[in-house]
Amino acid sequence: MEVIICKTKDEASRLAADMVAACVKKNPKCVLGLATGSTPIGMYKCLAEDVKARKISFKGVRSWNLDEYWGLAGTHDQSYRYFMDKNLFELIDIDRKNTHVLNGLAKDWKREVKAYEAAIKRAGGIDLQVLGIGSDGHIAFNEPGSSLASRTRLVSLTPQTIKDNARFFKKAADVPKYALSMGVGTIMEARTIVLLAFGANKADAVKGAVEGGISQFCTASALQMHKDAWFFCDEAAAAKLKLKKYYAWRGLEELARR
Ligand code: GLP
Repeated sequence: MEVIICKTKDEASRLAADMVAACVKKNPKCVLGLATGSTPIGMYKCLAEDVKARKISFKGVRSWNLDEYWGLAGTHDQSYRYFMDKNLFELIDIDRKNTHVLNGLAKDWKREVKAYEAAIKRAGGIDLQVLGIGSDGHIAFNEPGSSLASRTRLVSLTPQTIKDNARFFKKAADVPKYALSMGVGTIMEARTIVLLAFGANKADAVKGAVEGGISQFCTASALQMHKDAWFFCDEAAAAKLKLKKYYAWRGLEELARR
């Protein structure tokens, strides 16, 4: 695991976008795993700028998203399908039929998650997975207590996540309590991981993920066992790391060596 610490989230978003762009340039038919949340929006904007400047093209790229709220249609303005359309897919030249988001209305969720995993496998597996991190250290919707070997499945959200998400819904009663989510085991199979974390609200999560023990209590800590995982943080998110000064220069050196 490498930790890249930048002065601002814009700087970190640009560096993370460069890593995604390099993956797309290397293999224009690559498979991307994508994330929602406020954190990756800046990185998605950078990628949209790269497409506009004709530096990269997503025409051959295929994507699978991490998760979707259970019970929301893809047309709901808080669904993750809607988020992806608005914050990335409509801004780049990807073929929408090559973009995949779990169907939150699938009647048979067991069948849905099985087919989702099978489709990723058929595509050759995920080359690069983008991740955010929840304030309790979760990745996708793998809440504390999720097995580090878990696969895509229906999950119950914690009161903390439901609280964190309430700002996006009109009424507390509208906030979904369940989601379909890739598992930690599914995510760990991606060849490269790019995790973004910004703001003081993520400092404890980053500390737990990077310097805590590997535990299902902080599912991002599983990434310590990944051979090509990169954390892009701003200074506020990295503030509680014991070795932050060391990571600050080592990370950039490792990035240059890559
Ligand atoms: C949700 C998503 C995660 C995301 C997290 C943080 O729990 N399932 O994928 O990382 O929110 O969101 P934000 O980036 O808005 O802080």
